[in-house]
Amino acid sequence: MAEKPWEGRFTQETNELAEEFTSSISFDKRLYRYDIKGSMAYCEALAKAGIVSQGERDKILQALKEIEGEIEQGEFPLSARWEDIHMHIEQRLREKIGEVGGKLHTGRSRNDQISMDMRLYLKEETIGIHGLLKGLQASLVGQAAKYINAVMPGYTHLRKAQPILFSHYLMAYYEMFKRDRERVTEALRRIDVLPLGSGAMAGTPYAIDREYLGELLGFTTVSQNSIDAVSDRDFVVEFLSQCALMMMHLSRLCEELILWSAPEFGFLRLPQSFCTGSSIMPQKENPDVLELIRAKTGRVYGALVSLLTILRGLPLAYNRDLQEDKEPLFDAVDTVKASLTIMAKLLEGIEVNQDRMREAAAEGFTNATDLADYLVKRGIPFRKAHQIAGKVVKYAEEKGKKLEDLSLGELRSFSSAIGEDIFDYIRIEGSVDHRQSIGGTARQRVAEQIKRAQEELAC
Ligand code: ARG
Repeated sequence: MAEKPWEGRFTQETNELAEEFTSSISFDKRLYRYDIKGSMAYCEALAKAGIVSQGERDKILQALKEIEGEIEQGEFPLSARWEDIHMHIEQRLREKIGEVGGKLHTGRSRNDQISMDMRLYLKEETIGIHGLLKGLQASLVGQAAKYINAVMPGYTHLRKAQPILFSHYLMAYYEMFKRDRERVTEALRRIDVLPLGSGAMAGTPYAIDREYLGELLGFTTVSQNSIDAVSDRDFVVEFLSQCALMMMHLSRLCEELILWSAPEFGFLRLPQSFCTGSSIMPQKENPDVLELIRAKTGRVYGALVSLLTILRGLPLAYNRDLQEDKEPLFDAVDTVKASLTIMAKLLEGIEVNQDRMREAAAEGFTNATDLADYLVKRGIPFRKAHQIAGKVVKYAEEKGKKLEDLSLGELRSFSSAIGEDIFDYIRIEGSVDHRQSIGGTARQRVAEQIKRAQEELAC
């Protein structure tokens, strides 16, 4: 059997259990494209340094390309014996071109190699997630534009608070995902750093042109401390914390869509194609997709906590502990991508029951603040106005009426400042339209928000 690259000083074969236990190939095979890309660039840097000849360079590059093809075709045998994706590729390289293949690892370590693979991988995934966030925002804006006039009750403490536009509510999520996009872009800067050329930890004695290597691989900057370069996983933590925030945002949206599509609310219908039935209760149409996104938030939080815990108290520089960063990261990436994708599609299919929403917005004295505001406009200090409005609410509640159903006489018995124009002022639509402050729920303001969002999404 071929020798392992590090076997020189060993007199004992690796225990089978230890081999299985330490192997990462089952999951880090996902990184093969980045590993090969990195190796090709490294080979160029070796050629530039005169460590491999042009002929050797060509041989190595050709073989690496073939290996990539073999992996893509599923013709590449995996074995715990070769631990990880780096050793698998190197082993195959030596099988293909013999001794020359052994030159590729000159001055390189798997420690700087894995960090580079992870960074190349995350750069790509981050850009992908940025795009998915944008897609989700587009769905939100699309529905906001479609239902621009739908009035619904806004909630605080999950009790009816004030009438708002449904479009205003959707645009709140637009803002949340906008921050997510900004954060992702910001983190990309710190992912986009080349660690290769740091060696095991101390740097390399060979004339590897790291700037050149960085350019070949499309990194914007080159790491400035080899010890930090091989031990740093801050970029993974940062990325995972952003994923955690995205999932938290999604889970809040899920929760509300679940509530509002429940017959008790009846504000909207979820697309049936995104619901599932019950094996026993024929009448059911369950929001399982939303429930699962909500629950998967926990997995992503778990990934973040895993990473923070792996890194806690870890001495510099590389430790094998760092191999444990991959599974949580990959799982979080898959979960976030799947969740963002399906949420965007599901949102496109929701149907809003505008009449039911409007009816609910008019229940529960949601215009009580407007009554107080009206009194303020008539010169009454807000605290006093609040008290008067509270008394009117109590009276109306006892009579089983809405505020707008009281007669002018009844209303004036609480304050002589109330005039005929009160009815117009406390209409549900009036309540919405009075809120003209920047970011407020007035139709004009929301229309501006939507327009701005459409412009943002267009670039
Ligand atoms: N599979 C390892 C990881 O994922 C690669 C680096 C291994 N380095 C080492 N010296 N054992 O972190």
